[in-house]
Amino acid sequence: MQSEADPWEPATLAVVGTGYVGLTTGACLASLGHDVTCADIDAGKIERLRNGEIPIVEAGLDEVVGAAVAAGRLRFVTGAAAGTAAADIVFLCVPTPQDEDGSADLSYIEAAIHEIAPVLKPGAIVVNKSTVPVGSTRVVERALERTDVSVVSNPEFLREGTAVFDFLHPDRVVIGGADETAAKTVARLYAPLDTEILITDAASAETIKYAANGFLAMKISFVNAVAAMCEAVGADVAHVVEGIGSDHRIGRAFLQPGPGWGGSCFPKDSRALVSIAADHGYDFSMMRGVIEVNDQQRVRMIEKISRAAGRDLVGDRPLDGMTVGALGLTFKAGTDDLRESPSLAILDQLERAGAIVTAYDPTTAGELDHVQRDRLGSMRLATSAVAAAADADVVVILTEWQEFSCLDLDAIAATMRGSAIVDTRNILDPAAVRAAGLVYDGVGRS
Ligand code: UGA
Repeated sequence: MQSEADPWEPATLAVVGTGYVGLTTGACLASLGHDVTCADIDAGKIERLRNGEIPIVEAGLDEVVGAAVAAGRLRFVTGAAAGTAAADIVFLCVPTPQDEDGSADLSYIEAAIHEIAPVLKPGAIVVNKSTVPVGSTRVVERALERTDVSVVSNPEFLREGTAVFDFLHPDRVVIGGADETAAKTVARLYAPLDTEILITDAASAETIKYAANGFLAMKISFVNAVAAMCEAVGADVAHVVEGIGSDHRIGRAFLQPGPGWGGSCFPKDSRALVSIAADHGYDFSMMRGVIEVNDQQRVRMIEKISRAAGRDLVGDRPLDGMTVGALGLTFKAGTDDLRESPSLAILDQLERAGAIVTAYDPTTAGELDHVQRDRLGSMRLATSAVAAAADADVVVILTEWQEFSCLDLDAIAATMRGSAIVDTRNILDPAAVRAAGLVYDGVGRS
């Protein structure tokens, strides 16, 4: 492992895949001065991008994309291989969803390699940013069948919603590969950023990505388990987090209790970590426990919501006729991503038990796109928080959108049928809720 501080010079780059990682990576690298072509097999998405439309909710991305396009350093093309022939360095930013057995599905990566292999420039470098099982850099090398092309792993640590900030202010950049010259060339792309650059072997870089997400998921499961304990012993999790977080060895970050972690990364990466370890003969029982606590957390939330409405979860359809006003559908605030959202999982279980759910989320209040429609199915949607609360026995906050921390509680109380508020994100002031004549329950709050 070494630190890299070589001088910066602009390079010609191609980025394959324009999801939140690919688009952010392409736009931010262009903003650093590189010449970038972003490619995607989805012609409709490329058309929207060419028309200046950003297909995802991502703070600051429209400005960075707009400025880079205006400067002539960023363009969008259809087809994985388009733009690759001219590039010195090609970034793979395609999805690696989860197979049924928990392992990563590499079919998008394989398809992209198949397309780019014949057109790559001699001496080009392929950079893998997708999260792939340990050993995949070697698999990519072999699949390319190009001895003149080097492959390095450069995992991303971008959070959805703050991806642009995270890209431009990274805690570190990790680059792993057998070809040290190629790794240093990729490191130089990031030279304008004030950050530590770690160059490692490929397996370590790939493991760093999984271990980082696994550790963060562990912190959240830990605090959710502590919150359950706080409820049992009559303690307040906010005080406990303050008390432990001030120890610099622990820190305060990622200790916010909630309905359990979700999203497109933690669930698949934590399961992949268990699966990769098992493939190599190690039973990662701690990670299995982290996942189990997360599953339990959803069940605990369902129990809380039912209890708040005076229902017991016994019998066939124990919540028949119970009305729920749900606030928040995305897996966290600041994104329109509904993948593996704890909110959707919890609401689905409530509906299966007979509850009637009306939901509001700021990102689904307007016209839905086809992805949202697929994920939400027949969910009844409201266009405001107060509208979702109408006739509800219980109102439940599931995503920590800023607007939910300053709800018009009097209006909510006036429109509800019941009087219970379950705040799974601990964003409301319990005293203010009680002052509005409502009954408050949070997570781990005494
Ligand atoms: C996560 C990592 O944070 C990124 O570093 C990583 O690059 C990314 O996965 C990835 O692998 O691509 P992201 O999925 O955008 O990023 O979401 P996070 O902000 O990490 O939140 C994950 C989940 O944990 C959310 O459901 C969130 O509500 C929950 N969470 C987070 C908590 O319940 N408590 C916390 O204190 C923090």
